[in-house]
Amino acid sequence: MKKIDISSCINEIYLSLCIMNASGAICTTDKELNNLLKSSSGAVVTKSCTRNFRNGNKKPRYFEWKMGSINSMGLPNLGIDFYLKFLENQEIKKPIFLSVSGLSMEENFFLIKKANLSKKISAIELNLSCPNIKEEILGNDLCKISNFLGKIFKFNKKPLGIKLPPFFKEKSVENISLILNEFPITFITCINSLPNGIFVDTNNETTVIQPNNGFGGIGGAVIKPFALANIRKFYSFLRRDISIIGCGGISSGKDVFEHILCGASAVQIGTQLIKEGVSVFDRLRKELILLLREKNYSSIRNFQGKLKIFKKF
Ligand code: DHB
Repeated sequence: MKKIDISSCINEIYLSLCIMNASGAICTTDKELNNLLKSSSGAVVTKSCTRNFRNGNKKPRYFEWKMGSINSMGLPNLGIDFYLKFLENQEIKKPIFLSVSGLSMEENFFLIKKANLSKKISAIELNLSCPNIKEEILGNDLCKISNFLGKIFKFNKKPLGIKLPPFFKEKSVENISLILNEFPITFITCINSLPNGIFVDTNNETTVIQPNNGFGGIGGAVIKPFALANIRKFYSFLRRDISIIGCGGISSGKDVFEHILCGASAVQIGTQLIKEGVSVFDRLRKELILLLREKNYSSIRNFQGKLKIFKKF
Protein backbone atom coordinates (compact mmCIF):
# COMPACT_ATOMS: atom_id res chain seq x y z
CA MET A 1 0.00 0.00 0.00
CA LYS A 2 1.24 3.49 -0.87
CA LYS A 3 2.50 5.56 2.04
CA ILE A 4 0.47 8.67 2.86
CA ASP A 5 2.42 11.70 4.07
CA ILE A 6 0.67 13.56 6.87
CA SER A 7 3.73 15.47 8.03
CA SER A 8 3.79 19.24 7.73
CA CYS A 9 5.94 22.32 8.11
CA ILE A 10 4.97 25.39 10.06
CA ASN A 11 7.28 27.61 8.12
CA GLU A 12 10.66 26.04 9.02
CA ILE A 13 9.37 23.86 11.88
CA TYR A 14 8.90 20.22 10.85
CA LEU A 15 5.99 18.20 12.33
CA SER A 16 5.92 14.45 11.69
CA LEU A 17 2.12 14.66 12.17
CA CYS A 18 0.09 17.79 11.36
CA ILE A 19 -2.06 17.39 14.51
CA MET A 20 -1.28 18.79 17.99
CA ASN A 21 -3.10 19.94 21.10
CA ALA A 22 -4.63 23.39 21.44
CA SER A 23 -3.27 25.53 24.23
CA GLY A 24 -5.43 25.17 27.32
CA ALA A 25 -6.42 21.56 26.68
CA ILE A 26 -4.76 19.36 29.34
CA CYS A 27 -1.37 21.04 29.04
CA THR A 28 -1.00 22.94 32.32
CA THR A 29 0.72 20.60 34.81
CA ASP A 30 3.89 18.48 34.51
CA LYS A 31 1.74 15.34 34.45
CA GLU A 32 -0.42 16.66 31.61
CA LEU A 33 2.59 17.83 29.63
CA ASN A 34 4.41 14.51 30.10
CA ASN A 35 1.32 12.78 28.80
CA LEU A 36 1.34 14.98 25.68
CA LEU A 37 5.08 14.52 25.17
CA LYS A 38 4.56 10.75 25.18
CA SER A 39 1.50 10.91 22.90
CA SER A 40 1.54 10.66 19.12
CA SER A 41 0.76 14.38 18.62
CA GLY A 42 2.96 16.16 16.10
CA ALA A 43 3.86 18.89 18.57
CA VAL A 44 3.08 20.05 22.10
CA VAL A 45 1.63 23.44 22.98
CA THR A 46 1.74 24.57 26.61
CA LYS A 47 -1.05 26.29 28.54
CA SER A 48 -0.79 30.06 28.05
CA CYS A 49 1.51 31.26 30.78
CA THR A 50 1.88 34.49 32.67
CA ARG A 51 4.75 35.97 34.71
CA ASN A 52 3.36 34.49 37.93
CA PHE A 53 1.40 31.43 39.01
CA ARG A 54 -2.37 31.91 38.74
CA ASN A 55 -5.11 29.87 40.34
CA GLY A 56 -7.64 30.99 37.76
CA ASN A 57 -11.36 31.55 38.21
CA LYS A 58 -13.77 29.82 40.56
CA LYS A 59 -15.14 26.42 39.55
CA PRO A 60 -17.19 25.29 37.74
CA ARG A 61 -15.34 27.14 34.99
CA TYR A 62 -15.54 24.57 32.16
CA PHE A 63 -18.57 22.71 30.82
CA GLU A 64 -19.14 20.60 27.74
CA TRP A 65 -22.15 19.26 25.90
CA LYS A 66 -22.56 17.19 22.74
CA MET A 67 -21.79 19.96 20.27
CA GLY A 68 -19.45 22.25 22.20
CA SER A 69 -17.84 23.59 25.32
CA ILE A 70 -17.83 26.78 27.34
CA ASN A 71 -15.02 28.04 29.55
CA SER A 72 -13.97 30.94 31.67
CA MET A 73 -10.80 29.52 33.17
CA GLY A 74 -9.10 32.80 34.03
CA LEU A 75 -5.64 31.70 32.87
CA PRO A 76 -4.79 29.15 35.56
CA ASN A 77 -1.11 28.33 34.97
CA LEU A 78 2.06 27.64 36.91
CA GLY A 79 3.98 30.71 35.71
CA ILE A 80 6.58 30.90 32.93
CA ASP A 81 9.50 29.73 35.10
CA PHE A 82 7.75 26.43 35.77
CA TYR A 83 7.32 25.72 32.03
CA LEU A 84 10.89 26.68 31.17
CA LYS A 85 12.32 24.56 33.99
CA PHE A 86 10.04 21.62 33.13
CA LEU A 87 11.20 21.68 29.51
CA GLU A 88 14.85 22.02 30.54
CA ASN A 89 14.64 18.55 32.12
CA GLN A 90 12.96 16.79 29.20
CA GLU A 91 14.34 14.89 26.28
CA ILE A 92 12.43 16.67 23.54
CA LYS A 93 11.47 14.63 20.46
CA LYS A 94 8.97 16.96 18.81
CA PRO A 95 8.43 20.70 18.44
CA ILE A 96 7.37 22.58 21.56
CA PHE A 97 5.27 25.71 21.29
CA LEU A 98 5.34 27.84 24.43
CA SER A 99 2.07 29.76 24.66
CA VAL A 100 2.37 33.11 26.42
CA SER A 101 -0.46 35.39 27.42
CA GLY A 102 0.73 38.38 29.41
CA LEU A 103 -1.86 40.41 31.28
CA SER A 104 -0.39 43.56 29.73
CA MET A 105 1.86 44.46 26.82
CA GLU A 106 4.79 44.93 29.20
CA GLU A 107 4.24 41.45 30.59
CA ASN A 108 4.23 40.02 27.06
CA PHE A 109 7.64 41.63 26.35
CA PHE A 110 8.96 40.09 29.56
CA LEU A 111 7.59 36.61 28.68
CA ILE A 112 8.89 36.66 25.12
CA LYS A 113 12.35 37.78 26.30
CA LYS A 114 12.45 34.88 28.76
CA ALA A 115 11.24 32.38 26.18
CA ASN A 116 14.03 33.53 23.86
CA LEU A 117 16.57 32.16 26.36
CA SER A 118 15.26 28.57 26.21
CA LYS A 119 16.79 26.11 23.76
CA LYS A 120 13.91 23.64 24.23
CA ILE A 121 11.26 25.84 22.66
CA SER A 122 10.73 25.62 18.89
CA ALA A 123 8.35 28.54 18.76
CA ILE A 124 6.37 31.00 20.82
CA GLU A 125 2.60 31.16 20.40
CA LEU A 126 1.67 34.65 21.52
CA ASN A 127 -1.92 34.51 22.67
CA LEU A 128 -3.53 37.83 21.84
CA SER A 129 -7.03 36.47 22.19
CA CYS A 130 -7.73 35.28 25.71
CA PRO A 131 -11.38 36.24 26.15
CA ASN A 132 -11.19 35.99 29.92
CA ILE A 133 -8.76 38.80 30.80
CA LYS A 134 -9.44 42.50 31.21
CA GLU A 135 -6.92 44.44 29.08
CA GLU A 136 -7.77 43.92 25.42
CA ILE A 137 -4.51 43.79 23.52
CA LEU A 138 -5.92 42.98 20.12
CA GLY A 139 -8.55 45.69 20.24
CA ASN A 140 -9.61 47.89 17.37
CA ASP A 141 -6.58 50.15 17.57
CA LEU A 142 -4.52 48.92 14.62
CA CYS A 143 -1.69 51.41 15.31
CA LYS A 144 -1.34 49.99 18.81
CA ILE A 145 -1.01 46.43 17.47
CA SER A 146 1.57 47.49 14.88
CA ASN A 147 3.55 49.36 17.54
CA PHE A 148 3.41 46.36 19.86
CA LEU A 149 4.66 43.93 17.20
CA GLY A 150 7.38 46.41 16.17
CA LYS A 151 8.73 46.38 19.72
CA ILE A 152 8.64 42.57 19.94
CA PHE A 153 10.54 42.02 16.69
CA LYS A 154 13.27 44.42 17.79
CA PHE A 155 14.55 41.74 20.18
CA ASN A 156 12.76 38.47 19.36
CA LYS A 157 14.88 35.78 17.66
CA LYS A 158 12.54 32.77 18.07
CA PRO A 159 9.93 31.69 15.55
CA LEU A 160 6.82 33.47 16.77
CA GLY A 161 3.16 32.99 15.92
CA ILE A 162 0.01 34.70 17.08
CA LYS A 163 -3.17 33.07 18.37
CA LEU A 164 -6.11 35.06 17.07
CA PRO A 165 -9.73 35.39 18.09
CA PRO A 166 -12.46 34.79 15.52
CA PHE A 167 -13.26 37.75 13.27
CA PHE A 168 -16.65 38.18 11.69
CA LYS A 169 -15.97 40.79 9.02
CA GLU A 170 -13.79 40.47 5.94
CA LYS A 171 -12.43 43.98 6.56
CA SER A 172 -11.22 43.04 10.05
CA VAL A 173 -9.26 40.08 8.67
CA GLU A 174 -7.84 42.25 5.90
CA ASN A 175 -6.76 45.00 8.32
CA ILE A 176 -5.07 42.59 10.73
CA SER A 177 -3.41 40.76 7.83
CA LEU A 178 -1.95 43.99 6.44
CA ILE A 179 -0.25 44.56 9.79
CA LEU A 180 0.89 40.95 10.28
CA ASN A 181 2.36 40.93 6.77
CA GLU A 182 4.79 43.66 7.79
CA PHE A 183 6.45 41.50 10.43
CA PRO A 184 8.55 38.30 10.36
CA ILE A 185 5.75 36.24 11.86
CA THR A 186 6.08 32.46 11.48
CA PHE A 187 2.44 31.44 11.85
CA ILE A 188 -1.00 32.37 13.10
CA THR A 189 -3.31 30.08 15.02
CA CYS A 190 -6.97 30.65 14.30
CA ILE A 191 -9.32 30.55 16.01
CA ASN A 192 -9.46 30.89 19.78
CA SER A 193 -12.84 30.28 21.41
CA LEU A 194 -15.83 32.43 20.43
CA PRO A 195 -16.09 34.95 23.24
CA ASN A 196 -19.10 35.68 25.39
CA GLY A 197 -21.40 32.72 24.93
CA ILE A 198 -23.88 31.40 27.49
CA PHE A 199 -25.07 27.82 27.95
CA VAL A 200 -28.25 27.41 29.98
CA ASP A 201 -29.12 24.61 32.38
CA THR A 202 -32.86 24.46 31.68
CA ASN A 203 -33.70 22.34 34.74
CA ASN A 204 -32.09 24.66 37.22
CA GLU A 205 -32.60 27.79 35.12
CA THR A 206 -28.95 28.75 35.64
CA THR A 207 -25.75 29.19 33.74
CA VAL A 208 -23.42 26.17 33.75
CA ILE A 209 -20.24 28.00 34.78
CA GLN A 210 -19.77 30.37 37.70
CA PRO A 211 -17.25 33.07 36.68
CA ASN A 212 -18.15 36.09 34.59
CA ASN A 213 -21.88 35.71 35.31
CA GLY A 214 -21.85 32.51 33.27
CA PHE A 215 -20.40 34.03 30.09
CA GLY A 216 -17.51 32.17 28.52
CA GLY A 217 -15.55 31.26 25.41
CA ILE A 218 -17.27 28.69 23.20
CA GLY A 219 -15.32 25.84 21.61
CA GLY A 220 -16.06 22.50 19.98
CA ALA A 221 -18.12 21.40 16.98
CA VAL A 222 -20.42 24.46 17.00
CA ILE A 223 -17.54 26.80 16.13
CA LYS A 224 -16.11 24.87 13.16
CA PRO A 225 -17.76 27.00 10.44
CA PHE A 226 -16.29 30.16 11.99
CA ALA A 227 -12.84 28.55 12.27
CA LEU A 228 -12.96 27.48 8.60
CA ALA A 229 -14.09 30.92 7.46
CA ASN A 230 -11.30 32.65 9.40
CA ILE A 231 -8.67 30.24 8.07
CA ARG A 232 -9.93 30.76 4.51
CA LYS A 233 -9.93 34.56 4.75
CA PHE A 234 -6.51 34.76 6.40
CA TYR A 235 -5.16 32.36 3.75
CA SER A 236 -6.23 34.83 1.07
CA PHE A 237 -4.75 37.90 2.79
CA LEU A 238 -1.57 36.66 4.51
CA ARG A 239 1.91 36.42 3.03
CA ARG A 240 2.39 32.83 1.83
CA ASP A 241 5.29 32.17 4.20
CA ILE A 242 3.06 32.78 7.25
CA SER A 243 1.63 29.33 8.03
CA ILE A 244 -1.84 28.91 9.46
CA ILE A 245 -2.56 26.51 12.30
CA GLY A 246 -6.27 25.74 12.26
CA CYS A 247 -8.15 25.34 15.52
CA GLY A 248 -11.85 25.02 16.22
CA GLY A 249 -14.35 22.20 16.13
CA ILE A 250 -12.18 19.28 15.09
CA SER A 251 -13.36 15.86 16.23
CA SER A 252 -12.78 13.68 13.14
CA GLY A 253 -10.29 13.12 10.33
CA LYS A 254 -12.82 14.79 8.02
CA ASP A 255 -12.66 17.96 10.16
CA VAL A 256 -8.85 17.94 9.90
CA PHE A 257 -9.18 17.60 6.12
CA GLU A 258 -11.56 20.59 5.95
CA HIS A 259 -9.21 22.83 7.95
CA ILE A 260 -6.31 21.95 5.65
CA LEU A 261 -8.44 22.37 2.52
CA CYS A 262 -9.29 25.91 3.70
CA GLY A 263 -5.58 26.72 4.10
CA ALA A 264 -4.27 25.37 7.40
CA SER A 265 -0.84 23.70 7.46
CA ALA A 266 -1.54 21.95 10.75
CA VAL A 267 -4.34 21.75 13.28
CA GLN A 268 -4.93 21.91 17.01
CA ILE A 269 -7.42 19.93 19.08
CA GLY A 270 -9.01 21.51 22.17
CA THR A 271 -12.49 20.41 23.28
CA GLN A 272 -12.21 16.93 21.73
CA LEU A 273 -8.85 16.34 23.44
CA ILE A 274 -10.42 17.20 26.80
CA LYS A 275 -13.31 14.81 26.05
CA GLU A 276 -11.26 11.92 24.71
CA GLY A 277 -7.73 12.20 26.08
CA VAL A 278 -4.46 11.86 24.15
CA SER A 279 -5.62 8.78 22.20
CA VAL A 280 -7.51 11.30 20.03
CA PHE A 281 -4.29 11.97 18.06
CA ASP A 282 -3.98 8.37 16.91
CA ARG A 283 -7.65 8.18 15.99
CA LEU A 284 -7.53 11.42 13.97
CA ARG A 285 -4.32 10.33 12.24
CA LYS A 286 -5.94 7.05 11.20
CA GLU A 287 -9.16 8.74 10.04
CA LEU A 288 -7.22 11.34 8.05
CA ILE A 289 -5.07 8.67 6.34
CA LEU A 290 -8.19 6.66 5.46
CA LEU A 291 -9.87 9.70 3.93
CA LEU A 292 -6.78 10.67 1.92
CA ARG A 293 -6.50 7.12 0.65
CA GLU A 294 -10.16 7.21 -0.48
CA LYS A 295 -9.53 10.52 -2.21
CA ASN A 296 -6.28 9.36 -3.77
CA TYR A 297 -4.13 12.01 -2.12
CA SER A 298 -0.61 11.00 -1.11
CA SER A 299 0.17 14.10 0.97
CA ILE A 300 -1.65 16.98 2.64
CA ARG A 301 0.25 19.26 0.24
CA ASN A 302 -1.93 17.91 -2.62
CA PHE A 303 -5.02 19.77 -1.39
CA GLN A 304 -3.87 22.33 1.19
CA GLY A 305 -5.65 25.67 0.58
CA LYS A 306 -7.39 24.33 -2.55
CA LEU A 307 -11.02 24.79 -1.52
CA LYS A 308 -13.17 25.31 -4.63
CA ILE A 309 -16.31 27.41 -4.93
CA PHE A 310 -19.61 25.57 -5.50
CA LYS A 311 -20.49 25.29 -9.17
CA LYS A 312 -23.61 23.85 -10.78
CA PHE A 313 -22.64 20.99 -13.07
C1 DHB B 1 -8.01 31.27 28.81
C2 DHB B 1 -8.93 31.12 27.80
C3 DHB B 1 -8.55 31.33 26.51
O1 DHB B 1 -9.41 31.19 25.46
C4 DHB B 1 -7.26 31.71 26.23
O2 DHB B 1 -6.91 31.95 24.96
C5 DHB B 1 -6.34 31.85 27.24
C6 DHB B 1 -6.73 31.62 28.55
C7 DHB B 1 -8.41 31.06 30.21
O3 DHB B 1 -9.48 31.53 30.60
O4 DHB B 1 -7.63 30.47 30.97
